[in-house]
Amino acid sequence: MRARRCLAVLLALTQPALAPYTVAGDAIPEPLAGAAGDPRRGAAIARDARKGLCNLCHAGLGGRPEGDLGPNLAAAGARLTAGQLRLRLVDGRVLNPDTLMPSYYRVDGSDGVASAWRGRPILDAGEIEDVVAYLATLRGGPAGGDPPGEGSPGARRDTP
Ligand code: HEC
Repeated sequence: MRARRCLAVLLALTQPALAPYTVAGDAIPEPLAGAAGDPRRGAAIARDARKGLCNLCHAGLGGRPEGDLGPNLAAAGARLTAGQLRLRLVDGRVLNPDTLMPSYYRVDGSDGVASAWRGRPILDAGEIEDVVAYLATLRGGPAGGDPPGEGSPGARRDTP
């Protein structure tokens, strides 16, 4: 018990603070981490049930399930710049305060995230960059033919 508590405190202390970032328009133009993201790592993070779990809500990522609460991402990299992708991952509430999509790089813990994640972002800065690099490679047409955000009950999409 005590050991676990100590471990939790240690983990909390060693968590790096969020890297500062600047929102410009509907994007975060500058990378959060120094090194360029790795698309292959990003793909793994996106499909990992304990990390991104993106395919719970999105089709087009080549994983299972193929959720439809969010837009199909098969052409996300053709539609959105790296900076736009980054903001949508970091904190989509900037664009749509009611979005269902979790903010993957935020720590205020007020959006019902599991306690394991309280006090730290779901993804760290390097992981965000990996996922951005991966999404930037997605340039196919929308596999399901669905225009983004339409016809899916959860995806209330205010015009940005
Ligand atoms: C709980 C559901 C959910 C999860 C999990 C989720 N998203 Fe989303 N996502 C959405 C919804 C809904 C939208 C539509 C935007 C809105 O709500 O305003 C969206 C929008 C996006 C967009 C913008 C797409 C566009 O065409 O505008 C990208 C990119 C994106 N998500 C990537 C991801 C990635 C990558 C992950 C995993 C790291 C992820 N999402 C996890 C629900 C989710």
